Amino acid sequence: MTKPISCFLMIFGLATAVSAQHGKQIVVATKSTTLIFTVSTDQKLYQSYLGQKLTNPADQDLLTASRKGAYIAAGMEDLFEPAIRMVHADGNPSLDLRYVTHNQHQDDENVTTTNIMLQDPKYPVEVVLHFTTYNQENVIKEWTEVRHHEKKPVTLTNYASSMLHFEASKYWLSQFDGDYMTEMRMKESQLTPGIKILDSKLGTRAQMYRSPSFYLSLNKPSDENSGELIAGTLAWSGNFQCSFEIDQQNSLRMITGMNPYASEYKLLPGKTFETPAFIFTYTKSGKGDATRNLHRWARNYGVLDGNKPRLTLLNNWEATHMDFNQDVLVELFDGANKLGVDLFLLDDGWFGNKYPRDADKTALGDWQADRKKLPGGIGYLVNAANKKHLQFGIWLEPEMVSPKSELYEKHPDWILKLPNREESYSRNQLVLDLINPKVQDFIYDMVNELLIKNPGIAFIKWDCNRMLTNSYSPFLKDNQGNLFIDYNRSLFDILRRLREKHPHLPIMLCAGGGGRVDYGGLKYFTEFWPSDNTDALERVFIQWGYLNFFPSLTVSSHVTSMGKQSLKFRTDVAMMGKMGYDIRVKNLTPEEIKFSNQAVKTYKRISEVIWFGDLYRLVSPYEENRAVLMYASPDKSSAVLFNYLLNFRRKEYMGKVLLQGLDPMKRYQIREINLLPDTKSTQAEDGKTYSGDYLMTVGLNLSAGKIAPLTSAVFELIAEK
Ligand code: DGJ
Repeated sequence: MTKPISCFLMIFGLATAVSAQHGKQIVVATKSTTLIFTVSTDQKLYQSYLGQKLTNPADQDLLTASRKGAYIAAGMEDLFEPAIRMVHADGNPSLDLRYVTHNQHQDDENVTTTNIMLQDPKYPVEVVLHFTTYNQENVIKEWTEVRHHEKKPVTLTNYASSMLHFEASKYWLSQFDGDYMTEMRMKESQLTPGIKILDSKLGTRAQMYRSPSFYLSLNKPSDENSGELIAGTLAWSGNFQCSFEIDQQNSLRMITGMNPYASEYKLLPGKTFETPAFIFTYTKSGKGDATRNLHRWARNYGVLDGNKPRLTLLNNWEATHMDFNQDVLVELFDGANKLGVDLFLLDDGWFGNKYPRDADKTALGDWQADRKKLPGGIGYLVNAANKKHLQFGIWLEPEMVSPKSELYEKHPDWILKLPNREESYSRNQLVLDLINPKVQDFIYDMVNELLIKNPGIAFIKWDCNRMLTNSYSPFLKDNQGNLFIDYNRSLFDILRRLREKHPHLPIMLCAGGGGRVDYGGLKYFTEFWPSDNTDALERVFIQWGYLNFFPSLTVSSHVTSMGKQSLKFRTDVAMMGKMGYDIRVKNLTPEEIKFSNQAVKTYKRISEVIWFGDLYRLVSPYEENRAVLMYASPDKSSAVLFNYLLNFRRKEYMGKVLLQGLDPMKRYQIREINLLPDTKSTQAEDGKTYSGDYLMTVGLNLSAGKIAPLTSAVFELIAEK
């Protein structure tokens, strides 16, 4: 079985790699974090350090003593959860990974990639560990590749993106879970010996119950400004598993990656199995610092066009559902004009002729405009919108098919469903077998042609309203273990092809609310829909949850009629993210329209700070009956502060709020903005000027004056020149 190593080096193109000395250290570092691996004399790879960068590099030599196996394989000596498990073509269920070589290259002055190659001395199997460091953002991205040259396929039953070890006295995990309409509820608990797993088996729309994003705090729970922790997030829209195992010596082994559940993956000889990336930041300065690191990274590297402005929009879903026609829509355009938004987004219900999409039982897959509802087709609507100086966007759910559709009738073999079983519907629909290249082409062509035929389409909302159940891929035949993984790889592949053709079209990632929010998907999307729950009180929590890991310009936050709060409160809540509307403008009073139009103008003026500034969470709604957060511009010349009073009780004590992210030496004038028309601020701080030092040391009494539950205020802080 053994092949000479030099052969592998040539096959895998690493011939020029720096060859390591025995005992040599491999250092993966950002400006403030270091991850060190050590190669032992028997060429095993160990993680010897993950933590704050040491001031004196010579001290790194002392770290070799602490040795935890890096990327441990199952089947040999180790008795805890493995990073990888492989059953070879001859049935041998073990893998012995030894260091062969590594290289490091600087992609640019900020980004460096380290590749460490491991190999089994007896079987022609190679595993490459990749680490990309983003120096300024203090973020590390880690992923793994596996390949082999055995005569027949091998079976992979575990395939972590990352395995990292921690040594602390205690560990706390902050997780984010929920359901449809209750996404991203934050919970923190202390880990105990044994395994805690955050996972998903939903296939697609996989983060509906649980997010693959978390904080892991070491020694003591972290707060916003203090505490040692890592914030981690897996870039994968499919089944995931993040496991945290504390062993008998109180060490924590953290393994993140795709969920091995029902996914024994057959890997063909010569093919590369690439895991999704695990992205993390390590800090000793609390969750706020971790969030800001991830936000900066996301805007620069993680999200499509993360440094570019976003469009404000009016969506028609909550206003009309599928009950509309051409005239109704054109009338809604007037509403969009009254609000002053950039774009009108046409939601579900515009397609299907043999089986028109009048309810959610029909037409998915038949992506032709409904001739009865829209006699002029999409082209007419695009023109009509453009004439009203509005851009036009459209909803699609490309991965799905309705049992009542022409697509279903024509291609029953294009659908994921179990043989010899009843079809299993969720929202009355089925999922297409994306693994089939013909299906991939169908989806690609459908989206591409829609955009080519209607070059005026300026925005897409890409929805996904069910998970994978009772799944079987007719295309995969005997390799059903590959289904969950290949489905999502195929999805990303379609998106990649579309992006090659339409690199900058804004696309919203939606999955029946926030069912799919991760950096694997967000590479191809400009924003996401956090939840179908648009009640502004609920949204304070939901948006707060997402903002831990995703920057504000990705968090679509719409003003709707759901919830009983004032329009002012609903608008202020939408402003903390990427503001939009989903409301019947016709039902608003002239006063409300005036306020909303002014609010859109205000938002456009301050959105630079909200989208590209640094987020500081000042008072958590999980700790008090209010939520206070602010964004400060990177040059500290301006800031926007949001104060939301929730369901508090009479005489509830609310302390002063210490601001953050300001220049202590600068003086800032505070103005309340987004006021109701023809009203003056009742906030005591309106119009006052303080030094940044005062604001950050003494703070503001935001609860002075007339206050009531479910009211809010937005303040702008401008530094004096
Ligand atoms: C679920 C989404 O979350 C909603 O915003 C809407 O687009 C519907 N799907 C349409 O079916």
